[in-house]
Amino acid sequence: MEVIIRPDEDAVAELVARMIAKELRANPHLVLGLATGRTMESVYARLVLMHRQEQLDFSLCRTFNLDEYVGLSPDDPRSYRHWMNRTLFQQVNIDLRNTHLPNGQAADLEAECARYERAISRSGGIDLQLLGIGRDGHIGFNEPLSALRSLTRVKALTPATLAQNAPYFGGVEGMPRRAITMGVGTILECRRCVLLATGPDKAGIVTKAVEGPITAMVSATALQLHPRCTVVVDEEAGSQLQGADYYRWIFANEPEWEDYRK
Ligand code: F6R
Repeated sequence: MEVIIRPDEDAVAELVARMIAKELRANPHLVLGLATGRTMESVYARLVLMHRQEQLDFSLCRTFNLDEYVGLSPDDPRSYRHWMNRTLFQQVNIDLRNTHLPNGQAADLEAECARYERAISRSGGIDLQLLGIGRDGHIGFNEPLSALRSLTRVKALTPATLAQNAPYFGGVEGMPRRAITMGVGTILECRRCVLLATGPDKAGIVTKAVEGPITAMVSATALQLHPRCTVVVDEEAGSQLQGADYYRWIFANEPEWEDYRK
């Protein structure tokens, strides 16, 4: 795992957008794993700007999102499909047929989960997976006690996640209680993982995820098993990291990060 600490949320988004742009320019057929949520908003806004100002080309790129609520239609503004369409897909030149989210309205949810796994495999696997982190340590909707080798399946959302996302639904009452999510095992199969976290509310859980013991109680700790995982945080989210000085030294000195220091 590598940890990069940037001054603020804008700098985190800028760095991650540049990482994605670099990979996409090197491989226009890139298979991108995407997440939704507040943390991703500024990353996608930057990708949209790069598309408009620097001709960043998404025409051959394929995407797989981590998750979708059970029961919401793609036309429902609260669904992740709708959120992705308006936040990114409709703002760049991606072919919507190349964008994939689990179908939360499938009659047979188990079959839908298996289909989603097959679709990821058939695409050749995910090259770069973007991840946020929930207050309970979830990645995707892999809530505490998710098996570390789990595949795409339906998960019931914890009270912490319901509270975190309730503002999008005008309160917990109106929220779906279940979601389809890629499993922790699905995420560990991706060739590269990039987890972002910003703001003081994430400081405690980021420290557990990066420096704590691997445990199914905090799904994000499984990323410590991934051979190529980069965690990008702002000063606030990184404020409790014990190894912060060491992480800063690596970012300031290792050639891999030279382009990103400017
Ligand atoms: C959403 C997802 C979640 C979020 C996480 C953080 O697709 O996979 O794991 O990344 O809940 O959400 P924000 O960024 O809203 O704090």
